[in-house]
Amino acid sequence: MTTVTQPVASPEDAIAVIDPASYAAWGPLLDTFDRLRSETPVVRIESPDGEFDPFWLLTRYDDAMRVSKDNARFLNAPRATVFTNKTGEAFARQITAQQGDESPNLVSSLVVLDAPKHPKLRRLTQEWFMPKNLRTIEAQIRELAARTVDRLVAAGPECDFVPLVAAPYPLHVVMQILGVPEEDEPRMLFLTQQMFGGQDEDLNKSGMANLSPEQILQIVTGAVKDFETYFEGLAAQRRANPTSDVATILANAVIDGEPISARDLAGYYIIVAAAGHDTTSASTAGAMLALARDPEQFARVKADRSLVPGIVEEAIRWTTPVQHFMRTAAEDAQFGDVTIKAGDWLMINYVAANHDPAQFADPRRFDATREANRHLAFGAGAHQCLGLHLARLEMRLLFEALLDRVDAVELAGEPRRAKSTFVGGLKTLPLRITAR
Ligand code: HEM
Repeated sequence: MTTVTQPVASPEDAIAVIDPASYAAWGPLLDTFDRLRSETPVVRIESPDGEFDPFWLLTRYDDAMRVSKDNARFLNAPRATVFTNKTGEAFARQITAQQGDESPNLVSSLVVLDAPKHPKLRRLTQEWFMPKNLRTIEAQIRELAARTVDRLVAAGPECDFVPLVAAPYPLHVVMQILGVPEEDEPRMLFLTQQMFGGQDEDLNKSGMANLSPEQILQIVTGAVKDFETYFEGLAAQRRANPTSDVATILANAVIDGEPISARDLAGYYIIVAAAGHDTTSASTAGAMLALARDPEQFARVKADRSLVPGIVEEAIRWTTPVQHFMRTAAEDAQFGDVTIKAGDWLMINYVAANHDPAQFADPRRFDATREANRHLAFGAGAHQCLGLHLARLEMRLLFEALLDRVDAVELAGEPRRAKSTFVGGLKTLPLRITAR
């Protein structure tokens, strides 16, 4: 007879893992992950109020890597994040049922699909996002980076780096790729913040500290509807007048001889638009925070630009903007003494994995010279970030432009992080800059 070990986290630890506020506080959350990793590296999280289904939290780098790479045994469908709770999901099912495709996900996109459909959709744009093709838009991004730094210098010496630089710059890049004209960008920013920042009162602009799950979902649903209407119009334009951008590929995409469905099309635009900017924005702001706290490191990279890629990579690990993705076990799986059963839900927590001391020496330290920085911030396996080369390129070009113009940078106030379990990072970064 085999014994099944079922380590269950305390209610306090469960709350720490699922409460958006603990991702804003950050330090205590990292302490919790360290303790869980050493005591119960695979642990069951049961939300005390029953609002979330139970799931297994993985805190070790090796376990997160194994699950990420084994896409046949650990599936993204049906629920790829804990962003919405049970009430929110029931609401989403009501809406999607009306569209004839009952699903717990309002948006059907790459991240909630598995083989055989996922690779077919992914292949449509994979080549476009590879370094070879990105070189064709490098000059355009460099120009955007220079203009962004002009804005920073003009606003100085004291400014908030997030709304001035970190948020608009990646948004601008991804919108150009998707063919969205500049005048529509504020609307897109507002919509993505409503979709992904729905857990943070400053970001959802409602001014209400504690929204009910229904209210949050209402905000998200409105944002998704707006996105769908907007991108339907854009696709029609690209069919009439094709260009070399991602929008044109998607508008004309054919799979197995059929044009992709309206829901798949909207989902694709939404995932690229949404995944493409808040994430890079968070790692860009994080890099700047690290440099502001460490004038010596700033001076070193200013003198030697070959250090920029190291700053970029370490910022992506250190900030880990995408904090988790979920998987569902397709069959029983063994993790040490713990048996995960077919159908169980698992959380790959990238924050915990990227702070595993077995993989990263002194993980809370920002170290741009880290060797073999094989962080998991972009995930791994079939769903590994489609935009990872673009994210690195954008950040490198921005910091090259910034180091040309800025001589010194220091903190001018306390930075604050967003309350969010899913995509998170700094929402304010007050700086004092010395520029020329
Ligand atoms: C998927 C992180 C930037 C587009 C992902 C995943 C992570 C991630 C963790 C899921 C991986 C997995 O499940 O194994 C990040 C981070 C970024 C970033 C940390 C910036 C620092 C971007 C950019 C774009 C993008 C700039 C596009 C313009 C996507 C898409 C997916 C994805 C489309 C879904 C891929 C799939 O499911 O096949 N990203 N991302 N991301 N990312 Fe990114």
